[in-house]
Amino acid sequence: MLNMRKYIYFDEISSTNDYIKENYNNLFDLDIVVAKHQTKGRGRLSRDWFDNSNSILLSMLIKPERDILIQLIPLVASAAVYKFLKKYVEDVKIKWPNDLLLNGKKIAGILVEAKYLTKLEYVVIGIGINLNDERFVSEIENKATSLFKVTKQKYDSTEMYEGLSDALRNEYMLFCNNQSDFLSVNRLNSAVINKDVLLEVDNKLKNVKVLDILDDGTILVNIDSQNKSFSSGEITLNKNYIEKE
Ligand code: BTN
Repeated sequence: MLNMRKYIYFDEISSTNDYIKENYNNLFDLDIVVAKHQTKGRGRLSRDWFDNSNSILLSMLIKPERDILIQLIPLVASAAVYKFLKKYVEDVKIKWPNDLLLNGKKIAGILVEAKYLTKLEYVVIGIGINLNDERFVSEIENKATSLFKVTKQKYDSTEMYEGLSDALRNEYMLFCNNQSDFLSVNRLNSAVINKDVLLEVDNKLKNVKVLDILDDGTILVNIDSQNKSFSSGEITLNKNYIEKE
């Protein structure tokens, strides 16, 4: 924590996650990279993450000294983003494992990437939050929202970067000290627990009921009349919820 940089800032970069992946040898644990605009922003499942310079685009590097249960990291990040957003808005929900919803529409996404050689070398947590967007491109207009759209206020990006950086570092340090409540934050504010949803399993969409999020970060669902847990998978909520692709 000593001499920690607030963050490394770029007006434009290909992707803050890619910058960290390419430069991790010269960066420190908990360094944060932010950008006003990304030319090759990436989302999960090889999707693009578009921005029009109105978003928070931020990535944090983790260089773990010991092995960590990597599948918990998206949930640690979700809890941090949840706590950060709750300072500004009500009705924030977490769509396991990586999306934050506001009034049922996607306001933020998280992309966690890791590299293993003989051991876990690094983890990058990338976060995109729709901040001052007044509108979105037509494909996602019905599925996405921003803080501005909900509160009708504009936000200072520096203040927001700093607030999110603090929230993320704090949540991760709590996790390292085994003091964290990130699992209960994910459970109590889940958009999917107790819901009938579609889960993509082996490239097929299955109707499942979500029962819980387990301590190892997996999701427990009832599928084909059996209870089974999954460590990853894309969930589609029914029509009351809409997600940004
Ligand atoms: C998703 O919803 O699929 C995850 C989106 C993650 C986007 C962020 S923006 C900052 C960081 N850099 C990237 O290229 N992606 C993540």
